[in-house]
Amino acid sequence: MRIIFATGNAGKMREIREIMADMDMEICSMKEAGISLDIEENGTTFEENAQIKAKAVAACTKDIVLADDSGLEVDYLNKEPGVYSARYAGEPCNDRKNLELVLEKMEGIKDRTACFVCVLALVTPSGELTARGEVAGELKCAHQGEGGFGYDPIFYIPQYKCTFAQMMQEQKNQLSHRAIAARLLAGKCARL
Ligand code: IMP
Repeated sequence: MRIIFATGNAGKMREIREIMADMDMEICSMKEAGISLDIEENGTTFEENAQIKAKAVAACTKDIVLADDSGLEVDYLNKEPGVYSARYAGEPCNDRKNLELVLEKMEGIKDRTACFVCVLALVTPSGELTARGEVAGELKCAHQGEGGFGYDPIFYIPQYKCTFAQMMQEQKNQLSHRAIAARLLAGKCARL
């Protein structure tokens, strides 16, 4: 079975391929499927944006399409950057600038709890599904670690005493918001 993963984000692409490696499916990027689209993510929830992306790509192919909308919710910032995580510091999207902006807004703040959210949306000829994964953590005051992508260097998981960027990728792929959403989605697939 072939699934097109509707993303241009290399970090998400790598992780979803690794997370879904033991499922008997070929995961293609949009580029590999020959699909080039500029999708306007104008939803206000992760669910809406994941569905917008999945449906836009599904309109170009007969293959099954998977999309990921994800981001960081910081409690002190009233859940910002949320659905604006990719473009928090403005466009063009820049992971480093987004992370610096969060650090700047959180300077001197003691309440540093945050959550990563991922909603996966699947569009198939027999129906549509979404699944949400969340993982709680705390924001560090400076970058720690070289792995991962996006906000990973400041997202600290107290139980593991390290940031997502300091963790082995295999471990992040077991416990991340993306991994939780993928497991839930796989469980729901029987309903289609
Ligand atoms: P979008 O889902 O393409 O709108 O963007 C999601 C943004 O959230 C990414 O550009 C990252 O900045 C951030 N993000 C989502 N998942 C992760 C993750 O696993 N690690 C770090 N940052 C993430």
